[in-house]
Order: sequence, then structure tokens, then C-alpha cells
Amino acid sequence: MIGKNLTFGKSEEKLLREKDRSMTRNKIIAGNWKMNMTPSEAVTLLETLKPLLHNDEVEVVFGVPAIDIIPVVEACKGTNIKIAAENMYFEEKGAYTGEISPGMLVDAGVRYVILGHSERRTYFHETDEDINKKVLKAFEHGLIPIMCCGESLKQRKQGITMDWIRQQVKVGLQNVTADQAKIAVIAYEPIWAIGTGIAATNVQAEEICKEIRECIAEMYDTNTAQKIHILYGGSVNADNAAGLFIMEDIDGCLAGGASLKQDFGKIVNYK
Ligand code: PGA
Repeated sequence: MIGKNLTFGKSEEKLLREKDRSMTRNKIIAGNWKMNMTPSEAVTLLETLKPLLHNDEVEVVFGVPAIDIIPVVEACKGTNIKIAAENMYFEEKGAYTGEISPGMLVDAGVRYVILGHSERRTYFHETDEDINKKVLKAFEHGLIPIMCCGESLKQRKQGITMDWIRQQVKVGLQNVTADQAKIAVIAYEPIWAIGTGIAATNVQAEEICKEIRECIAEMYDTNTAQKIHILYGGSVNADNAAGLFIMEDIDGCLAGGASLKQDFGKIVNYK
């Protein structure tokens, strides 16, 4: 009986291999340039960074200001680099002065869209409901949302980190199907770690990313939870990236400051 269990037939072996592959999430290493880089500076930075990226196993994404999208997409032609927008509106077109539609992003060659970054929540008063509308619209147009969530220092001290994040995730993904959730990306970005130089430790980040995955399993099923990508963001740099990436539930990062420097190359080539 034991022997039988240890010997797999060809088709079982294939199934196991496939299962194994589907359980392994590739890493996504994303940069968030925020409101930095004019179009010409953006192209110069891209040309500096491109030769430094030597890891074909990871998906490299640059989140760039809207005005930089077209020249940056052009500069990335012939590479595997994907471009993300840093925001988008949830309407198709019309009288929304200053906004950018999902169709415009797709036409410009954008693949991902960062949604609900804490800076947008704080400075532009975006709510979970707004973010949910944007997430649904992104999927409708074939864009992959990188939906951000994360607690403030006050909330962490109050012990309500996970209550807060669960709400952000549950409302943000309302009416998102399991098939869509499987390809979605969630970025856990504690507000106290963003731009402060004080990153969460890999243990702290893993604890929350694991709980986010459990939340996805409750909302959908374990298969969806195994497929969704969960990134960590907040003062990621060349020194702490590898330690974060070895954690089971951390599937990469959203790096701000470090994505504007040559350090980003070291983060991508973390092993
Ligand atoms: P940081 O920013 O890496 O500069 O802390 C991360 C982010 O805001 O996405």
C-alpha cells in the first residue's frame, strides 16, 4: 500500500507537476514613481534601469505618471517590462475634466493599474467604494488592478489592523468574480512604512499578507487565494527585498523611492 502511494503513474505525475506549477506564483516587482519624472526624465531613467534588470523569472512593472505612459511604453518595446498607470477613472468617457479612462490606458499599452494607493485615499479622498468601481472597470477592460491597502500607525497601535484591511479588501473586491480575483494583485502597504525608511519586518509583512490570503479564501476559495498575488510595499530597498521575498505569502513588492534609483535593479535581481 505504501509502495503504491509512492509510485505515481505518468498522468498522475503530470497532474502533480501541473498542480505544483499552478501553486507557484511568480514574483511581481513593481515600481511606483508617484509624481516624479517628466517625460524626458522618465525615458532617461528607463534607459538607465533596463540594462540592470537580469531576472527573467519576475514580472517587472513600472507604475508611471499618466503623461509618461506613452514615451515609457515606447522605451520598453522589445522587453518584458509592463507598464502600470497610477490611477484611472471608473467612467468610460465624457465630461470628467482631467480624468483618464481605462480605454485610454489600454490603447496606450498599459497592462496594470495601481488603485487605492494610500496617498490617493488621503489627499484625494478616495473611498473603498470608489476603488471598487475602478477595480471592476479595470477588469472590464482587461487591465490588472494592483489594489493597495494598509493601516495607519494609529490603527496598528489600536489593534485594528486586520479589521481595517479586511474591510478594504472586501469592499474593494465586491462583485469581482473568482476568475478575476485570481489574476488580481493586492499590495499591502502599511502607511507608517511608506516613504519613512522604516519598512515592516519580513515577519510583520508576512503576517498581514497571510491574513489577506486567508480573507480571499473566505471570500472565494483556497484555489483563488493561492493564485492571487499579494505584494508588500513601504520602504522596500535593495537591502530588505530578498528577506521579504522569501516569505511564503509575499509575492513581490511595490517599491516607491527605490524604483527611481539603480537600486531597483538590485531588487529585481534579488537572488
Ligand atoms: P516607498 O513607497 O517605497 O517610497 O516607501 C511605496 C509606495 O508608496 O508604493
